[in-house]
Amino acid sequence: MCGIVGFIGHKHDAKDVVLNGLTKLEYRGYDSAGISLFNPKFRSFDIYKDFGRVAKLKELTKDAMISNVGIGHTRWATHGKVTKENAHPHYSQSKRFIIVHNGVIENHEELKAQYLANALFYSETDTEVIAQLIESFSETLSVENAILTTLKLLEGSYALLVIDTESPNTIFAAKNKSPLVLGQSEDGVTIASDLMALVGYSEKYIALADHTFVRCEADNVTMYNLNHEILPTSFLDIDLDEADADMGEYQHYMLKEIYEQPSVVRRIVQNYFEDGDIKISKQVLKDIKNSDRIYILAAGTSMHAGYVGKYILEELVEIPVEVHIASEFAYHTPLLTEKPFFLMISQSGETADLRACLMKTKKMNYKTLTVTNVKTSTLARESNYFLELFAGPEIAVASTKAYVAQIGVLAVLAYALSEQSFDLKKALTDVALSIEDFLSSQDVSSIVHKIITKRNCFYIGRTIDYYTALEAALKLKEISYIQTEGFAAGELKHGTIALIEEGTPVVALISNKEISSNTRSNLNEVIARGASTIKISMKKTSHKDDDIILKDVHPLLTPMVMVVPTQLFAYYAALERGLDIDKPRNLAKSVTVE
Ligand code: M6R
Repeated sequence: MCGIVGFIGHKHDAKDVVLNGLTKLEYRGYDSAGISLFNPKFRSFDIYKDFGRVAKLKELTKDAMISNVGIGHTRWATHGKVTKENAHPHYSQSKRFIIVHNGVIENHEELKAQYLANALFYSETDTEVIAQLIESFSETLSVENAILTTLKLLEGSYALLVIDTESPNTIFAAKNKSPLVLGQSEDGVTIASDLMALVGYSEKYIALADHTFVRCEADNVTMYNLNHEILPTSFLDIDLDEADADMGEYQHYMLKEIYEQPSVVRRIVQNYFEDGDIKISKQVLKDIKNSDRIYILAAGTSMHAGYVGKYILEELVEIPVEVHIASEFAYHTPLLTEKPFFLMISQSGETADLRACLMKTKKMNYKTLTVTNVKTSTLARESNYFLELFAGPEIAVASTKAYVAQIGVLAVLAYALSEQSFDLKKALTDVALSIEDFLSSQDVSSIVHKIITKRNCFYIGRTIDYYTALEAALKLKEISYIQTEGFAAGELKHGTIALIEEGTPVVALISNKEISSNTRSNLNEVIARGASTIKISMKKTSHKDDDIILKDVHPLLTPMVMVVPTQLFAYYAALERGLDIDKPRNLAKSVTVE
């Protein structure tokens, strides 16, 4: 949560680099935005900031002078209300030091009491403590040592950019837990929370490790550990394409990403299947096979993919699987079996709740595999193994194509672990075709009216459809703000059916042939109580009056297809309500705080 960008260079205007970067990082938080730019006329730094979006910041800075140095921030508020004062950049008491920060300083109250009792604070943020500490230590130490001394006191997470207004040709950076990547080119140095912000300005990048401190000048980057010892640098090529993050002909990223799903599934096939073989390291397969239980840890949508993964793994591999909410597991670990294996699922690879789990499992010396969309992410780098989703950048806060990709990759993993006679490559290709067929032939915008006119909505399903119901409900609530619950269809009658009244929308998901008549009975029970129903089924489970009938796919892969109409329901419900679909209120794409 929160995105930071800094630039120091020759050719580009820092304002352009930082604002373009912040626009791409806005998915990380969009409560407020700010920038500090060197003003060559007065040889000082100007700060522009306010609550609201980067678009507003662009307006605020439209007359700013061309500058070669700047740092910026887009905020997801953690400490302090959404106000101009709490927007970054923050400065020290004398305004000598200017900083932007992504993360949470957990001991900021203690640091304030111990070191800064007399300091004048300008904001309610935890971040400001960092600027104040640096200034206070700089009275007796060199600037670099003042920053290092400060860093050693900080508990929590930070990706940090610091400007010393007395040395305008340098940006200092530091990282612990929150992501930070540094890109370099002949034009200068760009440093940001995500690789996307570097695209167009750098050809090479380095993902900083925790406890790294960096001095960036236009032509020179020096990295240190917190003991001020120089670290080696080894850059990698940036292989992202700007077009990947472009909205193209679509009105919203979410819609584009929904429509990209068939090609995402095909990309998984291309990347994981080679000459009849599956490209997953033999070692990870061996480690999983040697375990007596797989523990899947994840949050939100990724956890719903985890439930489907459990279903597929147990079915194909016959190893028991447990799925746990990451934020719970991290602090209330269940009794583990003798030989557990941990599987983390995360689109971003940056989710702090999962990182807390990883720290814990590492401490216990257990092996971990992360399934993620971002190969440069913290979890990808810190786990023993990782599998890439190949979904391409997912910009909309509400996850769609990453969810489908997660199930696809988990299916590939399960398949590689098992001895199956069916052809998964073909089965996944059928999934791509089925999604494509639905997207090109059905218009759900008229059905969605049954949902949006109501204050609440229910999704119901049994077995594998229950997991789709959970995901469908999350999608609808997070972008349309309609209170929605996903229920195991058989569970409704044990209490929740009391909420059904005249016109309450209930969407039934019916893809499991063995149990479809039971789900239909549950549907009749709510119809008898006035519910307004929508039925989504596969061809083989369909009745002729079902609202949406999808082309059949392998029974274990139906969630990859069944979820697609529900994603569109959420999209059109939010559209009808005139809401900000790609950036729903209070949320952020990458949840880097616990
Ligand atoms: O990046 P992750 O997959 O680890 O993120 C987990 C959740 O925060 C995420 O899935 C969230 O629930 C999305 N808003 C869902 O659309």
